[in-house]
Amino acid sequence: MGVRLSRRGRRGATVDLAPSAARLTNSLRDIGYNFHSAVADVIDNSLAAGASRVSVEITFDGPDSSVFIADDGGGMSANGILEALRFGSRREYARGELGRYGLGLKTASLSQGRCVTVVSRLGRDGVVSARCLDLDLIEEWDEWLVVDPGESRAVARASDLLDEGFNTVVVWEKLDRLLPFKNQEGGWARRRVDNAITKSVQHLSMVFHRFLERSDSLVLEVNGTKLAPWDPFARAEEHTQVLTPLIFEVQRDAVQGFVHLERFVLPPRTHFSSPKRFEELSGPLKWNRQQGLYIYRADRLVQWGGWAGIRGIDEHTKLARVALSFNTELDELFNTNVAKMRVSIPGELKQQITPALSEVCVAASETYRRAARLTEESTPTSFGQALAPNVVRFALTAAAMRSGDKDALDRIARELRQTNPEIAEQLGL
Ligand SMILES: Nc1ncnc2c1ncn2[C@@H]1O[C@H](COP(=O)(O)OP(=O)(O)O)[C@@H](O)[C@H]1O
Ligand SMILES: [Mg+2]
Repeated sequence: MGVRLSRRGRRGATVDLAPSAARLTNSLRDIGYNFHSAVADVIDNSLAAGASRVSVEITFDGPDSSVFIADDGGGMSANGILEALRFGSRREYARGELGRYGLGLKTASLSQGRCVTVVSRLGRDGVVSARCLDLDLIEEWDEWLVVDPGESRAVARASDLLDEGFNTVVVWEKLDRLLPFKNQEGGWARRRVDNAITKSVQHLSMVFHRFLERSDSLVLEVNGTKLAPWDPFARAEEHTQVLTPLIFEVQRDAVQGFVHLERFVLPPRTHFSSPKRFEELSGPLKWNRQQGLYIYRADRLVQWGGWAGIRGIDEHTKLARVALSFNTELDELFNTNVAKMRVSIPGELKQQITPALSEVCVAASETYRRAARLTEESTPTSFGQALAPNVVRFALTAAAMRSGDKDALDRIARELRQTNPEIAEQLGL
């Protein structure tokens, strides 16, 4: 049943062993998306289709809660929608296109809900078609079924959006991953949806910041709020330091391309234009964990925070942020994953960029040290009262490094921690 024995060319007897649709779709739900990264992956398709307006509507309505992602890109014909809903859509990609595996639309959508509907038309004058993937149906029949949703509520709302000028609407329903299993009506469920909205605004402003900066005509909105680009490098701040940009050539076998490195030292709190801006720039993970590499694939931010194993996160280098950009011809080298949430930097490139990263980190810790010294000077203190432990530790470490006694200081610190841990803690050692 379902197994065909066939004879194909020189390969001899082969068996066409189709995977179980029910089991595979279920396991594909867990390849690493969270709500906001799943929304971002659907928006990748909108941008690839040339959209200049993308609108995300996340609506809490108990078990009928829904997400609509509408764009005014080129849209799809009826056959186009079918191909789009195939796991492993068949198509060629141009350089710089955000798509890659032909999976994003399905895996991202179904990672959040059990039903995804696509309503689209090929351009303004195209015929509107709608198709959906429903995990309940796929599980029941254990087949790769795509169905016509008929006149569903989702289709009715999507038609309104098409009337507003959008060409494609992707709808997520049966949001079992977003809503708690029990009591999908309650305050807890509502808070989860509210939280998803807040996080989405923050995430999308960040991962698409280059697209938003590049084009004044691009509008991304979440529940009616127009997103402003969030520039991790605070380039609009007067005191942001910009180091010389660098370009590295990478090559392995037939794969060859260039990687761009742009290095920044952000201003310390005292040198930001306002405390509010300083807080905004701290980012979703906050200053310490937002330091490090920001990796862009075809201008879309795919990974950020930390130094990709090249060095550790350190309070003193928290003002250092570095953009590392590559284009899609280097996908294989960077192992871009399906959820576009992770890449790995090739070992050769890590070696090449290490000195450049050290340089920006030195500059960042200098800035940090100067700011700490200023704070120290302007804070009248009696010992042990207002002096922050990290300021003391930093001053001691910096002095020890200058006098060449860092090893000695480490030994003293270790000794003090053992014999007098309270004082060691007060001194930040
Ligand atoms: N909003 C959209 N507008 C036009 N075409 C789309 C849209 N979303 C998806 N598609 C089509 O469906 C295909 C499959 O999308 P997806 O599953 O995300 O894989 P990928 O983006 O890697 O190709 C895309 O390559 C594109 O041709
Ligand atoms: Mg895609």
